[in-house]
Amino acid sequence: MRPHIEPFCDRDVTFKNMRLPGFASGMGYKMLSFDPETGGCSMSVQLNPGYYQPPGFSWGERELIIISGELQVGDRTCRKGHYFFVPAGYALPEVRSEQGCLVLEMHNTGEPSHEESTEHHPQAQVNLYHNVDSFMDIPWAMGNVVSPAVASGCLIKLLNYNPISHAMTFLYCMTPGFYQDNISYHDCAEESYHLWGASWMMQFGDIPTGGYFWRPAYINHGAFASEYGCVALGRTDSKLFNHFHYNPWSNPIENADRSFARMHQRDPQLYKWAFSTDHNHPHSPEDFEQTMQRRGDEEGHDNEHKSDGHRHDHWHGHHHHDKDSPYRHPLDEPHDHHHHDD
Ligand SMILES: [Fe+2]
Repeated sequence: MRPHIEPFCDRDVTFKNMRLPGFASGMGYKMLSFDPETGGCSMSVQLNPGYYQPPGFSWGERELIIISGELQVGDRTCRKGHYFFVPAGYALPEVRSEQGCLVLEMHNTGEPSHEESTEHHPQAQVNLYHNVDSFMDIPWAMGNVVSPAVASGCLIKLLNYNPISHAMTFLYCMTPGFYQDNISYHDCAEESYHLWGASWMMQFGDIPTGGYFWRPAYINHGAFASEYGCVALGRTDSKLFNHFHYNPWSNPIENADRSFARMHQRDPQLYKWAFSTDHNHPHSPEDFEQTMQRRGDEEGHDNEHKSDGHRHDHWHGHHHHDKDSPYRHPLDEPHDHHHHDD
């Protein structure tokens, strides 16, 4: 797990020399986020003029995008916005930069490594490799790739999609004057690096050029705005779903409970299979939007017993926390959620 990094701007720190074995000299890095269990990380990287890296592969999966300057990859000259998805064990040809360049490097599955080789590792999934000049060769598309969607004026270019995890890498742009007034959180981690321009967020303030975040699941973010627009690289580590709301005080536990409640309401059979082995637990976790006090509640409106079409209210008298109750929740040892009538 990578910890929450936000707000952060790489322009506020200096480059360190890359000293891991296998890497050519003339490579500086700024660590943006780091997973202490796997060594996976994201870094902004400066390659000095005259940089040369012999052909070879990384032991882990990685992604790169050129921030500025030119990078020669084999006999191809790649410019800002050029994106590479490089599977573990996929050997790139020699890499050089005559004038130097800035690159965003993302190591997804392990620490950065370089094994000199002109051939792919025999187990490399070479067909997953792809690269594109994302600035020149992909048009902007509407941001509504998932529903519910971001406000109009946030456009995307999809760069990589993992069909198993639904993890995505994409460019996004906020048009000048963009704003979105609701609050978001997701069931996935979300990462962003601002290639150019600035945006603003209610919780974390301005993200300038070089601004970065790694945001674990369930953390509120938004409202958003961008006065003059921005272009950023974004990633999610699994399926993106926009949980929108207007409660600036909800915390990550309440947000996760609400997601869980929504899963119970949307996929009750999956919920039952996954979480109830001996009894279909009558409660869902709490969805705070359905139980929070609202203006107008006082007039005798029943705010607490909204039906989602699946739940039966807790009208029957057994006690789930009784040690001998056959209705005990299988996860009740010693978990403590809120029963309204216990
Ligand atoms: Fe988000």
